Amino acid sequence: MDKIASKSEVFFGADTVKAPEPKLGSKPILGNRYTSKEFMELEWEKLFTKVWQVAGLEQQLENPGDFFTFDFGRESILCAKGEDSKIRCFYNVCQHRGNQLVQVEEGNLDGFSCAYHAWKFGLDGTLEYVPDEEDFTQGSPCGKRNLVEIKSEIWAGFIFFNLDPNSKSLKEYLHPVMDQLENYPISEMIRTHWVTVEGDWNWKCVQDNFNESYHTPYVHPALKYFSDEKYYSCQFDMYDSMHARMLMPGYIPSKSVYDEEKKVLEAIAPAIEYWEMDANDYKGRLLDIREDLQKQKRKLDKEKGYDFSKFSDTQLTDHHHYTIFPNMSFSVKPDGMQWLRGTPHPTDPTKCYFDYWYLTLFPKGVDEYYSHMLKKKTAINTKIPHVSGHHTEVDVGDGISEDVAIWTSQQKGLSSRGYIGDYMPAQENRIRFFHENIDKYLFGDE
Ligand code: FES
Ligand SMILES: [Fe+2]
Repeated sequence: MDKIASKSEVFFGADTVKAPEPKLGSKPILGNRYTSKEFMELEWEKLFTKVWQVAGLEQQLENPGDFFTFDFGRESILCAKGEDSKIRCFYNVCQHRGNQLVQVEEGNLDGFSCAYHAWKFGLDGTLEYVPDEEDFTQGSPCGKRNLVEIKSEIWAGFIFFNLDPNSKSLKEYLHPVMDQLENYPISEMIRTHWVTVEGDWNWKCVQDNFNESYHTPYVHPALKYFSDEKYYSCQFDMYDSMHARMLMPGYIPSKSVYDEEKKVLEAIAPAIEYWEMDANDYKGRLLDIREDLQKQKRKLDKEKGYDFSKFSDTQLTDHHHYTIFPNMSFSVKPDGMQWLRGTPHPTDPTKCYFDYWYLTLFPKGVDEYYSHMLKKKTAINTKIPHVSGHHTEVDVGDGISEDVAIWTSQQKGLSSRGYIGDYMPAQENRIRFFHENIDKYLFGDE
């Protein structure tokens, strides 16, 4: 029954070479990292203003004049598509006397007029008009006091920005993730789920959580029926670039439920039906499903409107999950991506904003789908709404709401005098790696 004997065999085909294990220390991860205003301040000054972040998606800016704003800690980032079709990111602040320029989340305009004294900036950030231009004894500010542009790059349809003008390039920053994801048509995927909740927990609770799968049998009890979630079946990689990866076999049950055949088949059935496989055929041979599904996907991909020829077997069935330093994570498949992020709160270390997106690759020939967000059949190019609110009022979405429930209670415990620091098994090493990397930004290589 033990088919997951060799990890290299299981994940064969993709760039699944195991990264060398980093040397990790044993410094305790204390609660004040999640509660202290001083620590939060250091994170802002030394970390978040130095690393690449995602403002939004290219698909939000289809036409010249389209713009959106993204709240990032104490900053608001304004992204706009110019007349030249170039996407630019700016600090959302008027250069006259500092009024926040754009107050809405998105729209289409021919430029940005400040509500205070009507200075008007073009889509490329150039100051084009000021009232009483002749009254500036120091000379007209037009063309001079332009919006302050932020370094930005687009990759896979994501608009990345970095508040540090001297940062390394995005390609260098994301290494080796960019290369590993080369074959995924991420920029063709359409956002079909978009929720942001204000959470009563520090942003690191989110990243810690997605840096380990130790919690999955208890927080997500359904997962074990269709994923071999135990650490000894998975591969964990920690890269010099501070990002990490987890490979977890999918469409194969965890050993702990081998004797619950009926439940396994029920859990897997809906997903394999689409690929014309019948769960009943797998009575007595649960461990064949994964491999058969890989073959079936290869056989039927073109007929179903996909092209999986560039993907390895593991990419067709398994969970390829990344945690991007410091605050993003995603699981990617050839036909979709679950994308997650915790953004620091502007002032309160015990709060953050948590985003959950799902990006879907629709097969060729499909022009509508059932939207769970809109609760109706929807054309694939319909922009879905951005649902946001406090985590007690907004449901984040399947599976992830189970994680959300935990972070709230974890933050309360982390704030307790009775919490004396972590005590973690080796399978949680990505958490230690994450915190040590934060410390490298905050305190240097001590
Ligand atoms: S602060 Fe914007 S025009 Fe005065
Ligand atoms: Fe989870």
